[in-house]
Amino acid sequence: MSIKKFTQSLNIDKRLFEADIWNTTSHNLMLAKQGIIEKDVAGEIIKNLKEALKEFKEGNFKFSEELEDVHMNIESYVISKGGEKCGAMHTARSRNDQVVTDTRILAREITLNTMENLLNLSNSLIDFAERSKVIIPGYTHLQQAMPTLASHWILAYIDAFLRDFERLNGAYKRTNLCPLGSAAFAGTSFPTDRNFTAKLLGFDGLIENSLDGVASRDFIAEILSCLAILSATLSRFCEEIILFNSYEFGLIEISPEWTTGSSIMPQKKNPDIAELTRGKTGRIYGDLINILTLLKGVPYSYNRDMQEDKFPLFDASDEVNSMLEILTEMSRNIKFKEQEQINKKFSNEIIATDMANLLVIKGIPFRKAYNMVKECINKNDFSEINKVAGNEISKINIENCIKFRKSTGSANYDEVERMAADRKKKIEKFYEIIEEKRKRTEDAKIITSQYCSEILNLQV
Ligand code: ARG
Repeated sequence: MSIKKFTQSLNIDKRLFEADIWNTTSHNLMLAKQGIIEKDVAGEIIKNLKEALKEFKEGNFKFSEELEDVHMNIESYVISKGGEKCGAMHTARSRNDQVVTDTRILAREITLNTMENLLNLSNSLIDFAERSKVIIPGYTHLQQAMPTLASHWILAYIDAFLRDFERLNGAYKRTNLCPLGSAAFAGTSFPTDRNFTAKLLGFDGLIENSLDGVASRDFIAEILSCLAILSATLSRFCEEIILFNSYEFGLIEISPEWTTGSSIMPQKKNPDIAELTRGKTGRIYGDLINILTLLKGVPYSYNRDMQEDKFPLFDASDEVNSMLEILTEMSRNIKFKEQEQINKKFSNEIIATDMANLLVIKGIPFRKAYNMVKECINKNDFSEINKVAGNEISKINIENCIKFRKSTGSANYDEVERMAADRKKKIEKFYEIIEEKRKRTEDAKIITSQYCSEILNLQV
């Protein structure tokens, strides 16, 4: 193992290529505008950066491990094409601010993609809720507790996913700040214009303190926390899909093409997608612990440990986004069984709380009513209840348990319908948030390329 081989980071930071080109282009436009480098030199640099990106996209860019990372490979390419004068491209900058700027550009994209996939999943789950009109047993301690609505169960997960969206939206705000111009850590003696590069790169503002700029990676830890929390909910949802799909619960069916078989047992239709999501959640937690541990002992400003920051970020976001995408599709291929079949699964006692509530209406304090119902169940003799409630006790059935519910957010038909309609509107609004942010980035790219055309025309 050579030092070069051990310290190089090309395998991971190739992924920064496009961001790095945009970054360096903006930096050089700024250097030219500020008179720090000649305009024709900036033009030559930018022309060759464009060429490098073209070759990269065509799969023809030749990387050299000797050159350590994506940044040095690109610089070396530009100098080899445009000559020594292009060495000006790294004036007033360090790889320390360069790499973290690239990473923030990718991190904001990752955040938006995850936010979009959360909304797609939520939409798919709204459809699932709307076609799941059945009453199912609700559980506490995995014991039948009260009758509930399948749609209410699905809507509960949607609300959690919409909070994940909001959490990521908060993380985005703190991610989309520009550290470029911090240089090694202490800034530079050249008269740079940091706000100009921040604007060209579509950032909402600066990471102002130059030491903070190169040293901080809390944006990665924050995004990974969001992804870990999101995975926990995905995993719980999948756990329930697995349980409800079992012969013992018998509540849902997954279309056979969304299950997998066994190499030995011909009858098997296994819920592997849900199981793998549950399994991969451990990996996402690992990625969060990875970045937190990485940061724990690293002094400010830059230390080489930080090169490792991209692995957990990219791994977790790739995995979470693939989980979200596949669960969006799988949810379209799950259905609850017919009510008649589900009815066979209810225990007799599942209406016990509603029986006690009836006794309360008849004037018995709740604790006494609770004890009366408990005793009747234990003795399997309901005469004491009949004495108080008479005929009305026969009204306590599964269907009426749902109908009688009144409280806000409860599992009754009206509340479920109201919440579904409300969440649909919320999802639409949330899509607009993503669109606005994407447009801002696209506009910044257009402004950058307009400045590029000016400089390149000048050169001709
Ligand atoms: N490849 C490095 C990374 O990903 C780039 C920064 C290197 N900076 C340095 N001072 N050696 O972190």
